[in-house]
Amino acid sequence: MKAKLSQPTAVITGSGFFVPGLPVTNSALPSTLDTSDDWIKQRTGISQRYIAPKKVLTADLAVIAATRALQKARLDAHDVDLIIVATSTPDNAFPSTAMLVRQTIGSTAPAFDLAAACSGFVYALSVGSQFIISGTYEHVLIIGAEKMSSFIDWHDRRTAVLFGDGAGAVVLQKQSSAYPAFSRLEAEHAEPELLHAPPKGPITMQGSEVFKFGVRTLTQAIRETLQQLRLQLKDIALIIPHQANIRIIQSASERLEIPMDKFFANIHQYGNTSAASIPIALAEAVEQKRIHPGDLVMMVGFGAGLSWGVSVMQMSYNALTLVHEAKDSALS
Ligand code: UT7
Repeated sequence: MKAKLSQPTAVITGSGFFVPGLPVTNSALPSTLDTSDDWIKQRTGISQRYIAPKKVLTADLAVIAATRALQKARLDAHDVDLIIVATSTPDNAFPSTAMLVRQTIGSTAPAFDLAAACSGFVYALSVGSQFIISGTYEHVLIIGAEKMSSFIDWHDRRTAVLFGDGAGAVVLQKQSSAYPAFSRLEAEHAEPELLHAPPKGPITMQGSEVFKFGVRTLTQAIRETLQQLRLQLKDIALIIPHQANIRIIQSASERLEIPMDKFFANIHQYGNTSAASIPIALAEAVEQKRIHPGDLVMMVGFGAGLSWGVSVMQMSYNALTLVHEAKDSALS
């Protein structure tokens, strides 16, 4: 890994996630879908997903994920300088989902939504970290939250089996002497019909075209980011790709000759949660101790637009967390 710079940068000091209700297995999907557990598992890797009850809002999912991330970072809502919610399924045109989160958690920070489909979380990480690098803010809360179920046509087996609801969040904090946060945002021209949803849904997709785009961009993002940052694969603790299809991750792994255990995959449990998929995966990887303080993680998002993006960030602890962790371990 390259030498640490003393210029302040953004690091991740807390993460958390939430999925609503009970898991809905492939066999429990509505009978309106002419599908099978075997087809879904073999073609996507998905075994189950979580579907929120009708009255649950995207903001409700976001609030729980955000609260958990703040707890991990040992911060409270008053410490937060900015809230960004990456979502394509906001509860209202306005106020934004981020404003609903702000009010519920009791923050006084400015808050806004960012819509970039499944690339949304990586785009939001980039925006949030710029505010820290510029010296404007010290603590930024970034959330990816989606209620994809409200956009599903339960008669369309090509899309309905893929998606799930959930939210993940991270706290970004200013830190000197950390690996400089890196982000790259990309977009390419495409017919909107390739992956499309009108304001109230339903989602329609030309699956195989989007699949090819996913494999191509995931592969390109990893290869070019390692080259650009002059990093070796061993410098990256974990690659966290958008969870759209396990075969997309496997194809990138084969093309790049990177073993599958370098990638984090949890699509079997949650399906595709769009902008929430990367922060859910990140928070789960932390819980499973696949990532530790000091580690560098690479996150790659891709989706409608077509858009894609990559982010490399260091996991860290803030000073307060270290004090609390020491106390906790002394007590146990
Ligand atoms: O999050 C944003 C990014 N999203 C993605 O990256 C998704 C990318 N696309 C994919 O993951 C895959 O293209 C899908 C999982 C959506 C579809 O898999 P596929 O292997 O590309 O299938 P296909 O669309 O080529 O369809 C093959 C067959 C078709 O039947 P015929 O025409 O060959 O008779 C489909 O009608 O599979 C049929 N099919 C299904 N059969 C049972 C499609 N969906 C289903 C289903 N159950 N759920």
